Amino acid sequence: MILAIETSCDDTCAAVVEDGRIQANVVSSQAASHARFGGIVPEVASRHHLELINPVVDAALAESGVTWSDLDVIAVTRGPGLVGALLVGVSSAKALAAAKRLPMVGVDHLHGHVAASFLDPDPLEPPFLCLIASGGHTLLAGVNDHQGFERLGQTLDDAAGEALDKGARLLGLGYPGGPAIEELAKSGDPGSFELPVAMAREPGLDFSFSGLKTALLYAVRELSDGAVKARRADLAASFQAAVVGQLLAKLRRALDSGAWPAVALGGGVAANGPFRDGASRLCAEYRIPLKLVPRELCTDNAAMIAAAAAHLDPVPYPSYLDWDVQA
Ligand code: KG4
Ligand code: ZN
Repeated sequence: MILAIETSCDDTCAAVVEDGRIQANVVSSQAASHARFGGIVPEVASRHHLELINPVVDAALAESGVTWSDLDVIAVTRGPGLVGALLVGVSSAKALAAAKRLPMVGVDHLHGHVAASFLDPDPLEPPFLCLIASGGHTLLAGVNDHQGFERLGQTLDDAAGEALDKGARLLGLGYPGGPAIEELAKSGDPGSFELPVAMAREPGLDFSFSGLKTALLYAVRELSDGAVKARRADLAASFQAAVVGQLLAKLRRALDSGAWPAVALGGGVAANGPFRDGASRLCAEYRIPLKLVPRELCTDNAAMIAAAAAHLDPVPYPSYLDWDVQA
């Protein structure tokens, strides 16, 4: 039985997982606190984690009906992420583990996003290709075993979620931007503004989203304030289509350049409907099974951290007491 803690960004998360089965998966989102700033304020995130971590861990234990003596190990995200935010999770996990003399597992956040696909029901077995697109990262991962992954390509500048968040801000939408853009785009025409699907013709498996953000800025600048308001849904739909278009173009190229028996999506942007639909069509075309985890396992959560930890060697007490974060 694993208790996992995740505090790398703006969600305070704790989960209890046994043999790939989620017993509790508690996420306390701070989105409302950061919305008025249009993005995450690291110091605000750290303070919120401090206030929320104990209630969130208590809630996960209560919800699962698990007691401290049932736990075998405590897992925690060590990085990458915001240093102050990570420190709250790592320090809390160390204190809890030490008090109970439990062993610990330190988990890489991106490995966690990959491992969301290891959870029940229908756990996906390696090897598979995983496209991770979140607020901090965008990469294609070759997953050959449960212990890690190989980076096949990654963003050279902004992450896909970061681009959506910045685009949403430009359009006067709330934070996080991805869900806001997805909602507004439903009533817009994705073909109404021609925004470049960057990198689609570049060789290799890297991504780039900063030019797209600039293209949106220029499109907005050419319109009057009234026209921007009137055409916000079209702008959102076109911008979303360009972000998703690039993700799918690179996924197609990865499938062309390697024989992967299955594909998985991970990270917050994998909660996006048009991205999920596009990936489904692409994988059907290639006759490759696609693993789509539920939306709540795409965005940050601690169940995915437990899923990764289950395949890593626990470190016994007290060897982990000098652990630092790996921001
Ligand atoms: O994985 P995640 O929760 O945190 C990081 O590790 O960064 O991803 C958060 C990102 C944000 O940029 C958010 O705008 C985006 O995922 N996101 C979405 C959706 N839900 C969250 N993007 C597009 N469509 C969504 N439905
Ligand atoms: Zn994440």
